[in-house]
Amino acid sequence: MNTLGEDARNHGTAVGLSVDQITINGGKPLRGRIELKGAKNLVTKAMVAAVLGETPSVLKDVPNISDVRIVRGLLEVHGVRVVEGLEEGELIFDPSNVESAHFADIDAHAGSSRIPILFCGPLLHRLGEAFIPDLGGCRIGDRPIDFHLEVLRKFGAIVEKLPSGIRMSAPNGLKGAKVELPYPSVGATEQVLLTAVRAEGITELKGAAIEPEIMDLINILQKMGAIITVDTDRVIRIEGVERLDGYTHRALFDRNEAASWASAALATDGDIFVGGARQSEMLTFLNVFRKVGGQFEIHDDGIRFWHPGTPLNPVFIETDVHPGFMTDWQQPLVVALTQAHGVSIVHETVYEQRFGFVDALVEMGAEIQVHKDCLGGQACRFGQRNFQHSAIISGPRKLHGADIEVPDLRGGFSHLIAALSAEGPSTVSNVGIIARGYENFIGKLQQLGADFVLEG
Ligand code: EPZ
Repeated sequence: MNTLGEDARNHGTAVGLSVDQITINGGKPLRGRIELKGAKNLVTKAMVAAVLGETPSVLKDVPNISDVRIVRGLLEVHGVRVVEGLEEGELIFDPSNVESAHFADIDAHAGSSRIPILFCGPLLHRLGEAFIPDLGGCRIGDRPIDFHLEVLRKFGAIVEKLPSGIRMSAPNGLKGAKVELPYPSVGATEQVLLTAVRAEGITELKGAAIEPEIMDLINILQKMGAIITVDTDRVIRIEGVERLDGYTHRALFDRNEAASWASAALATDGDIFVGGARQSEMLTFLNVFRKVGGQFEIHDDGIRFWHPGTPLNPVFIETDVHPGFMTDWQQPLVVALTQAHGVSIVHETVYEQRFGFVDALVEMGAEIQVHKDCLGGQACRFGQRNFQHSAIISGPRKLHGADIEVPDLRGGFSHLIAALSAEGPSTVSNVGIIARGYENFIGKLQQLGADFVLEG
């Protein structure tokens, strides 16, 4: 098995998913109700924030996904005690004995995750040093960490590149800084927040990302004692404080998972109630869902998404930072767009290589061409740079079953949707990787009436 396969298997087994392959008998509408927990992209950062507190933190609605297991392992190797609370999905973090960890232990626990980079600020405050191994994450582009390193240097960290990773130290402590990001990066914004809250003096961050998951991280840091002001025009000001305490917080729902199941409802002619989904964080997705021809109903306890039985419409989508259309929503929705009547265009402006997953859809009968040009909208950072980052999707095209291999988290979920909507059986391998970000997706497929067999 190749590296990706081993990685996927490791992710899967970490959350009790012993299978690596699913055979799906497609063509059956998904119908029923599923429940969401907290957002992967908030929960993992909230876990890191617990390191900054002098007292224990309690996080609720933590999903049982392998990315959470990875961060838990990283916390534990740094001496943070992690125990399960009384409520399902509740974790308690006691950081009173935070200690340095060995490079090899960090590397072993980090797996393919990019989270270790976010430990730097908190560990520099607590211990004066931090190590990060080579970082992984989904293979959807180059995914450099230059913004992170630049930010940490501005706070006064000394960054040393070693053959096995990066060592950081802050012999004179960290001081507030003026930072301007060249692009509103989610991770680099979190880096600034997690570092600035306990740095001496004031930090001003310009060009910040303002995704709802970042706002929820700010809520958490404020609960801990931080002073953070969010101004207009992507400016965030942080007044450093000497001490932070633990927090008790219920994590924001996973809007990427919500959009994934919504797209699954549309692509399979189905009807799914996504418990825990909320309107305000999904406004942009809901607008596009409606334009495509999908229907939804907002309820107090979730959102119902369904295919109304009338032909779907083609759309033009440009992915963007919040409040734009999230890059993570693009891949699942593209499967539904293969069924729209006409030509849709998707211009990916966040990651330069997020269309690798369409090869499998084409093999299944979809008509999708990817291009290097910035199609339909404005020129983006990837124009004229040889990246296949625009897609033209012509529909409707009947999808037929095929043997396909999951390439990355969201692309993998798209493959599941494609297999569920295709005629005939499909074998989807490497499904363990989907467990990185989708809690109990096998159980949810069962609940929604999917017809499939698991293979080891
Ligand atoms: C987060 O990744 C999410 N991951 C991603 O979700 C999400 O797609 C992305 O934000 C955008 O919303 C987590 O929260 C764990 P970025 P992150 O820094 O923080 C470039 C999923 O499937 N960049 O906002 O890594 C980068 O290459 C994952 O759940 C630099 O050039 O994303 C990209 O083009 C996938 N240098 C752009 O910025 C840097 O130092 C945005 O990346 C950092 C980023």
